[in-house]
Amino acid sequence: MEPYSRHVLVCTGGFCSPERRGRALYSRLAGLLQREGLLFGPTRVKRSETPCLGVCSSGPIVAVYPEGIWYSNVTPALLERIVVEHLRDGKVVAEAVFHRLHG
Ligand code: FES
Repeated sequence: MEPYSRHVLVCTGGFCSPERRGRALYSRLAGLLQREGLLFGPTRVKRSETPCLGVCSSGPIVAVYPEGIWYSNVTPALLERIVVEHLRDGKVVAEAVFHRLHG
């Protein structure tokens, strides 16, 4: 298997976002990754959806590894910033972060 540079987890559950807005985010993510050249090669990003990340409020929740950066209240506009600024350019969208696994 070709290595991945990052892994993005999108909660598509109904507790953090009663309207399950994470589902639409997850659908958009593939197109954004493709647009930014993040589906193949050394900067390849793996995406996954999950039914719950254990937060269950202020969703949709999106987590990015290996940095262990967790974003809350992710709108389509914020998702685009996460893809461009964080996944493509390596700069965390600091104002939307609510949890960091590593200090
Ligand atoms: S349902 Fe999204 S974090 Fe639990």
